[in-house]
Amino acid sequence: MIGLPLDEDFRTGRKKYILAGSVTLLVVIITLFSTNLINYLKIALTPIPKESSLCPLQEPIAPASFYKDNSTVLEILHDKQYKKESIKKLSGAIQIDTQIFDKQPDVPDAPEVWKKFAKFHDYLEVTFPLVYKHLEVTKVNTYGLVYHWKGSDKKLKPLLLTAHQDTVPIQKDTLGDWTYPPLEGHYDGEYIYGRGASDCKNVLIAILETLELLLAKGFKPNRPILAAFGFDEEASGIIGASHIGKYLEETFGKDSVYALIDEGQGLSVDALTNTVVAYPGTAEKGYIDIQVELTTPGGHSSIPPDHTSIGIISELGYIIEKDPYSPLLTPQNPILNYAQCAALHDPKGKLPSSFKKAALRAGFDKFANQKIVEAFSKNRLAKYLVRTSQALDIIKGGEKANALPETTRLLVNHRVAIGSKVADVQEHFVTRVVEVAKRHNLTVVAFGKDVHKLDGKDSGTFNVTTYSHALDAAPVTPHNDTVWSYLSGVTRHVYEDLVFPNITYPVISAPAIMTGNTDTRHYWNLTRNIFRFTPAFIGDFIGDTHIHSVDEKLPFDSHLQLQAWFYEYIQAVDTAKANNK
Ligand SMILES: *[C@@H]1O[C@H](CO)[C@@H](O)[C@H](O)[C@H]1NC(C)=O
Ligand SMILES: *[C@@H]1O[C@H](CO)[C@@H](O)[C@H](O)[C@H]1NC(C)=O
Ligand SMILES: *[C@@H]1O[C@H](CO)[C@@H](O)[C@H](O)[C@H]1NC(C)=O
Ligand SMILES: *[C@@H]1O[C@H](CO)[C@@H](O)[C@H](O)[C@H]1NC(C)=O
Ligand SMILES: *[C@@H]1O[C@H](CO)[C@@H](O)[C@H](O)[C@H]1NC(C)=O
Ligand SMILES: *[C@@H]1O[C@H](CO)[C@@H](O)[C@H](O)[C@H]1NC(C)=O
Ligand SMILES: [Zn+2]
Repeated sequence: MIGLPLDEDFRTGRKKYILAGSVTLLVVIITLFSTNLINYLKIALTPIPKESSLCPLQEPIAPASFYKDNSTVLEILHDKQYKKESIKKLSGAIQIDTQIFDKQPDVPDAPEVWKKFAKFHDYLEVTFPLVYKHLEVTKVNTYGLVYHWKGSDKKLKPLLLTAHQDTVPIQKDTLGDWTYPPLEGHYDGEYIYGRGASDCKNVLIAILETLELLLAKGFKPNRPILAAFGFDEEASGIIGASHIGKYLEETFGKDSVYALIDEGQGLSVDALTNTVVAYPGTAEKGYIDIQVELTTPGGHSSIPPDHTSIGIISELGYIIEKDPYSPLLTPQNPILNYAQCAALHDPKGKLPSSFKKAALRAGFDKFANQKIVEAFSKNRLAKYLVRTSQALDIIKGGEKANALPETTRLLVNHRVAIGSKVADVQEHFVTRVVEVAKRHNLTVVAFGKDVHKLDGKDSGTFNVTTYSHALDAAPVTPHNDTVWSYLSGVTRHVYEDLVFPNITYPVISAPAIMTGNTDTRHYWNLTRNIFRFTPAFIGDFIGDTHIHSVDEKLPFDSHLQLQAWFYEYIQAVDTAKANNK
């Protein structure tokens, strides 16, 4: 096409020259745009700085006490006797059954269901005598535990450490598959086994062991310390943490907490850089299950309509799966910052510089953003960190071989991307239902509203509802403030000075998305500084912990690291210097 005007002016040499020149320029420009050459050039010309505010390297932070006398924290990590007693404490906690199941009744309605938690409380009281002697212990909704260690400085907001007492159930038919009985708390010289060993009696016991040790050493906090343990986290925390959240908000107020540390990822060897990295979870995706029910007239299957409710629901399912959510990588998504941290801190030079440069631009450059999204999308696990997922999980309809199905039901589970809302998902879902409804003369009621009516006779109704409680993505925890600096600074100190003294590079903290929702959803009003973070090193999180499954276990050294981290962190933030400006 570009050649055509040139043919016309072929006779006049000069004109031809000028035209040819401008045509060449045009070709160059079009090539640049159509092949994204300019965009690639922009990426290629981006320098990779030694330091950048995108992921600044925090200085290691140790509490003053460490420089005076480092013996206690070294004892936590290396003393044989300390380890032996610590094994005993965690093992004892695993031995008390605190399994819970879905949809259990509230405590006042069925006290006998929850009684086993009283036994667990007795165990804690016997095992941590100083904690029970010196801290105020409040029981919320009977079995929720809140510990309050008062601070001497009224101006410092309390630190809140949380975990849960309950565990997921032990499937009866898998009992024979366990190497050691799940309620024995067996230690095999490396791992401690049992239900709750890694989710998350380890965190609960580590918090109490650390507080007990600080009390024994005569520590007197300036900053108040709170510990709170729900008892139905594995069933959404409706009976435990939701009451605790309200109690804490009533007692201390909105935005009254300095920082909240709950269970989450810890430290591991990073897939991109092959270095030890800490992953405090600073965000959680949203959640909604949408149910759609289609009711059509029944009848005999010898004279069926062209499409039964099963056929139409199948068509809807097909349309939904054909149209997956587009990726969305906003600057609020911690995964972008994670990629930037990897780009800026890659001591082994594992990452291609094109990836690094694109990551550094992805916050403001659409094309670079798309390149990073493509890189994440290639990985099955990383793919959904940058988009809303949808999964057709339940379909039910039909009763009999010779009767038309009157009602067919489909349930679609969604995990809502950071930067998107539950309401966006609802709206998008309804457009697809309406599309199918129009083809089949059906009306649509969605979330209690008539969204598609017909003038004439309809041949059935779609009813779209929210199946369980929906939850927007959590507010994203800042990673550019002093609270973050202390969290990552203490992590550097513990892991570089104490756990891996021979390490040759800094241990950075990179923000992460927590894939499931924890009890923290009930604590959003207490602080913006929520970290889903179990700061212990575990090389292979699934393989080393078997979380929620047979042979749940914990490398015991990680339990000692966790205590060392709590011990140093509690003391390091015990000063106004750790406050946000
Ligand atoms: C602990 O303190 C001792 C004595 O001051 C010192 O020699 C040692 O290097 C310290 N250990 C660490 C890991 O800092
Ligand atoms: C829908 O209704 C219109 C008008 O009543 C009718 O012409 C059409 O055949 C119907 N389509 C189906 C699929 O039932
Ligand atoms: C839609 O389903 C919900 C929940 O099952 C029910 O409460 C509501 O009455 C239904 N609405 C219609 C129009 O069928
Ligand atoms: C952190 O970043 C946010 C968003 O860019 C900004 O609004 C806020 O002021 C920053 N906070 C600090 C302490 O720099
Ligand atoms: C650290 O290095 C020292 C000296 O090279 C060596 O003796 C020691 O075994 C190393 N420690 C670890 C934990 O690798
Ligand atoms: C947080 O505060 C809002 C506004 O006051 C309130 O509606 C909501 O119930 C509170 N959330 C929780 C989990 O308590
Ligand atoms: Zn858990």
